[in-house]
Amino acid sequence: MAYISETLAGARILITGGAGFIGSNLALYFQQHHPKARVIALDRFREHTPPSTSLGHFKNLIGFRGEVLGADITCDLDRIAKLDFDYLFHQAAISDTTNTNQTLVLRTNYQAFLDLLEIAQSKGARVIYASSAGVYGNTPAPNVVGQGEVPENVYGFSKLCMDKHVLGRSCRAIAPIVGLRYFNVYGPGEFYKHKSASMILQLGLQALKHQEVKLFEFGEQQRDFVYIEDVIQANVKAMCASASGVYNVGYGGSHSYNEIVRLLQQELGDFKVRYIKNPYAFFQEHTCADISPAQQALDYQPMYDLQKGIEAYVPTIRALAQCPC
Ligand SMILES: NC(=O)c1ccc[n+]([C@@H]2O[C@H](COP(=O)([O-])OP(=O)(O)OC[C@H]3O[C@@H](n4cnc5c(N)ncnc54)[C@H](O)[C@@H]3O)[C@@H](O)[C@H]2O)c1
Repeated sequence: MAYISETLAGARILITGGAGFIGSNLALYFQQHHPKARVIALDRFREHTPPSTSLGHFKNLIGFRGEVLGADITCDLDRIAKLDFDYLFHQAAISDTTNTNQTLVLRTNYQAFLDLLEIAQSKGARVIYASSAGVYGNTPAPNVVGQGEVPENVYGFSKLCMDKHVLGRSCRAIAPIVGLRYFNVYGPGEFYKHKSASMILQLGLQALKHQEVKLFEFGEQQRDFVYIEDVIQANVKAMCASASGVYNVGYGGSHSYNEIVRLLQQELGDFKVRYIKNPYAFFQEHTCADISPAQQALDYQPMYDLQKGIEAYVPTIRALAQCPC
């Protein structure tokens, strides 16, 4: 389904992180619904399998007929500056929240963002970029933009730096810049994130392969899970934003990991649950997005509650469980 009425004929769209989960879904969305737009999917791509950090995989772009550009946002800025684009969807990042390399995470997630903003602004291009619920750390839910932004890891800190820059006085935008704080995104296209993929995929695959899943004690941590289609909707609608801003993009409700297990059991049949110790000190206990500003400013209307999202995803999870990839 197209989320805006414009055809985008002739529009030039650059997607960084285009071989990643969300970036590749965006590229394929534009190809399907706005075939006259010119889309470039830029990504660094991975060097190793499995990767030491979560990096893009060419298989996410099989079927994409637009332009593919292998480039690094931290060092290929001259090449990027030569591209023509009207919209920049900036998804590239070290997306692994457990990466503790502060130098790498800040250079990739924050410094490169500032450089890309400068390039985009010099072209008058609109920017829609990926922020994260990680900015809220363990602040009690509901999570509200402008409140309780106390990240627990360098990943969340890097995203908060991006948002603060955009909302700060020093950022004089020629065209609107919109930050989208995604909560826990799940859906087709995340398989190559391996251990950074959503728990919905990880638990589904464990259940199908081993008839047993592992959860951190005792599965009652609550998260706002948002289906990939709704995240694409938010990005596309943000193209029409009348001003710069930062918005939460979740479903607007939270569920525990035990509830995911129950929904998966309805779809896949019974399986066992084993509770294990959580090794992460910075694990978020409860997130829930206040999405009312996104609803008002962007007309964002999430359409997939957890049950509907899992039902839509299960055929893909079943196919992945069979696949030797
Ligand atoms: N998936 C989620 O639940 C979630 C939640 C909150 C925020 N986000 C953010 O959304 C964005 C997309 O996440 P995703 O889930 O698709 O992750 P992903 O890891 O699949 O995609 C990120 C992409 O960025 C690319 N990349 C990394 N460093 C790069 C560099 N130096 N130059 C060029 N490309 C580079 C990677 O190769 C990868 O393809 C990220 O910014 C992430 O932080 C995702």
